[in-house]
Formats: sequence, C-alpha cells, structure tokens
Amino acid sequence: MNFVERYGPWAVVAGASEGTGRAFARQIAAEGVPCILIARRQGPLTALADEIRHENGIECVTAAVDLASPRAFARIVQAVGGRDIGLFVSNAGADPNGARFLDRDVDVWIDLVQRNTVTMLRCCHYFAASMRDRGRGGLLLVNSGACYGGSRFMAAYSASKAFTLCFAEALWDELHEGGVDVLTLVLHMTDTPVLRALLAEKGVAVPENIARPDTVAALGLSRLQHGPVQNWGLADDEIGYAPMSAAARRQRTLAIGAASSHVFGKE
Ligand SMILES: NC(=O)c1ccc[n+]([C@@H]2O[C@H](COP(=O)([O-])OP(=O)(O)OC[C@H]3O[C@@H](n4cnc5c(N)ncnc54)[C@H](OP(=O)(O)O)[C@@H]3O)[C@@H](O)[C@H]2O)c1
Repeated sequence: MNFVERYGPWAVVAGASEGTGRAFARQIAAEGVPCILIARRQGPLTALADEIRHENGIECVTAAVDLASPRAFARIVQAVGGRDIGLFVSNAGADPNGARFLDRDVDVWIDLVQRNTVTMLRCCHYFAASMRDRGRGGLLLVNSGACYGGSRFMAAYSASKAFTLCFAEALWDELHEGGVDVLTLVLHMTDTPVLRALLAEKGVAVPENIARPDTVAALGLSRLQHGPVQNWGLADDEIGYAPMSAAARRQRTLAIGAASSHVFGKE
C-alpha cells in the first residue's frame, strides 16, 4: 500500500499551527492526504491551509479548538463530520510553564493533563475504531524524553508523557497485527516557537544542532510502521537516554502481553 492507501483519505493533526505539527501537516498533504488542522489560533491554521492548497492543490479543513477543554473532543468530531480518518497525529503537548508543581495554580496542570491524556485518549478511541474496521490506518503520538522519568519542573508534563508511552505501546500491541500502525515519537529539544519562547523567558540561548521540525516529522512518518516507539536521534536498538531502547521496549510490550495472556487470552 502507498501512503494514501494506508493513511488516507483524511488525516487529523492536533496542534497543527506551528512547529512539528505544522511540519506533519505539510508532509502528510504533500503525500496526497488532506488534513483537518486543529489548534487554538484560527489565523495560523487558515494561513497553513492556504499554503497547502497553493503548494499541493489539496484542500484542508481547519478547526479552532482548545484541546484542554472538556468540550474539545465534541468539537473535533463536529469538525471531522463524515470524513474517514486514516491518520491521527497527536502533536500538541508541550509544557510552556517550566515551573515547579506548586508554583502554578493546579488548574494549569489539570489543563495540561486533559490536553495530553484525556483528549488524546478520546481521539484515539474514536479514530482507531474505524481504522481497525478498515484494517489500516495510523496513530502517531508525539512524545518527549520526559516520558522516561519525572524530574523537577516537569511533574505533570513528564507524567502525562509517561501515560502516552505506555498507552502507545499497549495500542500498538492491540492494533498493529490488524493493520493499524501506532507510534509514539520521543523527541529531544526541537526548534519550535514554544521551545524558543521558553528559552527566551529563561534567558537561555537556543542550542546549536537541535532537531528541526521538518526532520522530526519526516522521521515520525517514516517510522510509523515500526512502532511502538521511536527515540529521536537513536537507532532502534540504541539505549541512549531511554532506560530501554525502542527494540527492547517492543520486546517488553510483547513479553508482558504473553505473560498476561492466561488472563486475557491471546487475541
Ligand atoms: N520543542 C521541543 O523541544 C520538544 C521536546 C520534546 C518533546 N516535544 C513535544 O513535541 C510536541 C510539539 O511541541 P511544541 O514545542 O511544538 O509545542 P506545543 O505547544 O506542544 O505544540 C504547538 C502546537 O500545538 C498547538 N497547541 C498547543 N496547546 C494547544 C491546545 N491547548 N489546544 C489546541 N492546540 C494547542 C499550538 O497552536 P495554538 O497555540 O494555536 O493552540 C501549536 O500548533 C509536544 O508534544 C511536545 O511535548 C517538544
């Protein structure tokens, strides 16, 4: 199957207006799959949709949605309408706060968790159901090296990313044999506007040689069939900053599935 057959006829990119999300949308559209572009700010979404239409002759749909809102999922379903979704990219998920847990109102962290876990989970449940029925499709969940351990200034963020890691591994185990690809793409520092704003606020220079959104998106799309984990900058079997390599996590996922099969069965 080519890209359109595997991941068409429509993709949803959550957090599409800039940075890696914008790069995902542009590359998916360049492959011939139109996107439903989601973010809070309508202006950049409209500009991106115009750009994609101009470059690829492909129409994209835009929807201004706050993914942290409990109403986000309903808004997304409304924007999708009757379109068949073959690819869901959950990109939005950074923590722009860079603050200790007690130094922010708890609602800041509740919003982060709602966006990164609950809305993402609802979308995966909704979109993956029809992918499973069709026997093809993809879920690409953008992650962070923070998923591998908590540390100061990242309490809610790293916890939400650890959720994404285990969630993606489990979904991969449940879905990939039926033709639905699941990948969590674990990023390191990437040159996005959100990272730049955080570094500027802290008075820290942008490091040289950090990842570029285009390169990150290309890696994620190219590794989508090789889930459940891709660590930025590392080969499949390299350990790096992760406690286990992508290959080891894949084997561990299968081993846990096998060990629990006497309870859940093998299907
Ligand atoms: N940049 C890095 O160094 C880095 C490192 C590791 C992991 N990552 C991961 O990479 C992904 C992208 O990160 P990023 O730096 O580009 O920042 P981000 O804030 O996660 O993503 C930016 C995009 O998401 C949208 N967005 C953010 N919050 C939203 C919300 N509540 N509702 C709807 N849309 C929302 C933004 O548009 P609007 O502002 O218009 O809503 C924008 O299009 C995240 O999952 C992050 O955890 C990034």
